[in-house]
Amino acid sequence: MKKLTLLLVVLVLGAVTAALAVPPGKTLTFDKSPMGPVVFSGTVHKDAGVSCKECHNPEMFPKMKQGTVEITMAKIYAGELCGKCHNGTRAFEAKKNCTRCHKK
Ligand code: HEC
Ligand code: HEC
Ligand code: HEC
Repeated sequence: MKKLTLLLVVLVLGAVTAALAVPPGKTLTFDKSPMGPVVFSGTVHKDAGVSCKECHNPEMFPKMKQGTVEITMAKIYAGELCGKCHNGTRAFEAKKNCTRCHKK
């Protein structure tokens, strides 16, 4: 019985750690652009009050898995993906702030 309880504790802790090991507390690096890699910070977005659902929904980033959606500047400028917010209203405008995302 004790062993079973311990196993459950380990499983639950494991699940919690997995859930936290993602966007808040984690960064994702998108390194395909010639402008330099973009480091996406889960913590910055969480601290700015953005909820998971605002990004992880069928229109934006349906899967919680890197590399499932191709991000292009055309889509961003059209107000899709990152550009849904990075348009100068909710967050800094992509067109005028290349180097706030792309770091060499
Ligand atoms: C501002 C937008 C945004 C917010 C908010 C956000 N995410 Fe994400 N998340 C992304 C993007 C973009 C990806 C990569 C998707 C892709 O490449 O297809 C991603 C990927 C992930 C991944 C996969 C990481 C990997 O290594 O593959 C997990 C897990 C995840 N998000 C969980 C969460 C959770 C949980 C929350 C809320 C606490 C959250 N995300 C909030 C944008 C966001
Ligand atoms: C749901 C709205 C939303 C989406 C979608 C979103 N962001 Fe943000 N982002 C914000 C807010 C709000 C801030 C903090 C306020 C600000 O800096 O203008 C922020 C801040 C940032 C910063 C910090 C810049 C700095 O100088 O501190 C980076 C980098 C960034 N976002 C990249 C991205 C990328 C890349 C994507 C797409 C994968 C994305 N964001 C999608 C709302 C969003
Ligand atoms: C809100 C964050 C953000 C800002 C601001 C931003 N980008 Fe990007 N950009 C990205 C992301 C994310 C990708 C995808 C990179 C990847 O898939 O590895 C990307 C991809 C690119 C690409 C390759 C794909 C394509 O669409 O051609 C180029 C070139 C590029 N950016 C140039 C720019 C320039 C120039 C600016 C400023 C005028 C800029 N970016 C501003 C986030 C941003």
